[in-house]
Amino acid sequence: MTRESWTTRTGFILAAVGSAVGLGNVWRFPWMTAENGGSAFLLVYLALVLAVGVPGLLAEFVIGRRSRRNPVGALASLSDSDRWGVVGLLPVVTTVLLLSFYSVVGGWILRYLVASASGAYFDAPGPYFESVSFGPAAVGYHAVFLLLTAGIVLAGVRKGIELATKVMMPAIAALLVGLAAWAATLPGAAGGFEYFLAFDLGYLRANFASVLGAALGQALFTLSVGAGTMITYASYLGEDRSLPADGATIAVLNTLVGVVAGLVVFPLLFAGDLPVGGSGPGALFVSLASAFATLPGGRVVAVVFFAVMTLAALSSSISMLELPVAYLADEHGVARRDATAGLSALFLVLGAVNALRPAVFDFVASTLVDLLLAAGLLAFLLFAGWVLGRDAVEEFREGAGSLGDALATPWLFVVGVALPVFLIFTVITGVLGIAGVSLGTGAVVGLTAAAALAAFAALRRAGSVV
Ligand code: PFF
Repeated sequence: MTRESWTTRTGFILAAVGSAVGLGNVWRFPWMTAENGGSAFLLVYLALVLAVGVPGLLAEFVIGRRSRRNPVGALASLSDSDRWGVVGLLPVVTTVLLLSFYSVVGGWILRYLVASASGAYFDAPGPYFESVSFGPAAVGYHAVFLLLTAGIVLAGVRKGIELATKVMMPAIAALLVGLAAWAATLPGAAGGFEYFLAFDLGYLRANFASVLGAALGQALFTLSVGAGTMITYASYLGEDRSLPADGATIAVLNTLVGVVAGLVVFPLLFAGDLPVGGSGPGALFVSLASAFATLPGGRVVAVVFFAVMTLAALSSSISMLELPVAYLADEHGVARRDATAGLSALFLVLGAVNALRPAVFDFVASTLVDLLLAAGLLAFLLFAGWVLGRDAVEEFREGAGSLGDALATPWLFVVGVALPVFLIFTVITGVLGIAGVSLGTGAVVGLTAAAALAAFAALRRAGSVV
């Protein structure tokens, strides 16, 4: 079976931006911002996108393009060791879990798209969300969303993913800018801008650890880093692109969409005089629905808004499904059609569990996914930095001109040493938090140092190149 590749450079960039731009930008970002002190969150998040997200994205690109394989095959073939292949299964698990809850939210959005046209939720936004979010109806809409996702993936890399994102991404950009222009004219919009953009140092000081953890999780989630989807997408690349230039473009475009989405959501909430601090995944749905119900032209705007959300969600969910499909195709010779069908059946069931059990959904969507992305990224960083080593530098420079020459070595240090230590620290803090254990900073730093030394020693023993 010959492996597909992207038709054009723009095709790859739009597909990767499509994976990045999603519910993370429009739904999870305002939710996380509201739960973490508003503007205090924004700056930390932006810093982490730059310092962690972009180098991590490039590590995935390097692994993907060098191997031309899915994450399992990539780690196994580049290291010549099946043990790394086992580590490569982590992204398969991550994307499966991701899609199992993402598809449920995709279903909510489809439902709201339909209901916006009739104004079904205008009278009682809160009870409406309660009645549709979890239960048999949510399972149905999740199934429809999944079917749309599978339809695109089934058509292949070029005719499915590339073509779909080429149409979707410009549409999202145009509609979102239109929405932001409209939102800026609303009375009360200024309060929304201030909440979102005025940096609140006091809050940050008092809650640094929790803001840091949440911002890191969001930075990885929004860039689709740590799940291996970017390895998969880069595996369909030719040699002639500049990875750092493409990575920077993708990060900038994704961040722009996130910020513009914030410029839509927060003014809307403030104009409607609605609580922004409401916590939980449903708060945004309820608040926005209330805003649409009361504002002039709300019905039309609601349809446009949920259309944007639907496109954004689909352009991401296809990347989640593509990873296990590529794995089955590359490693087990399963035809794309059979792989897509079989996996869709699995997702149907897993999504249904999330759609029927709010506690499962909450845990997967806000905690488990953060941890899995951080753990996955850690594996990719150590792999690029310590197993590929000089080969990673070579791959990074390939097609990247003088920019690649200048950045390759500093990048390898960041990827091999600085970020792993930072991630180990964050994962330890996160796991302790989940377990309800609170240790002092000194103890956590000690644990981090011990874990980092153990990881590096294990790499040496495993015969890594460095
Ligand atoms: N980046 C997507 C979003 O912001 O909605 C979510 C995502 C897609 C995360 C793909 C991870 C992934 F592999």
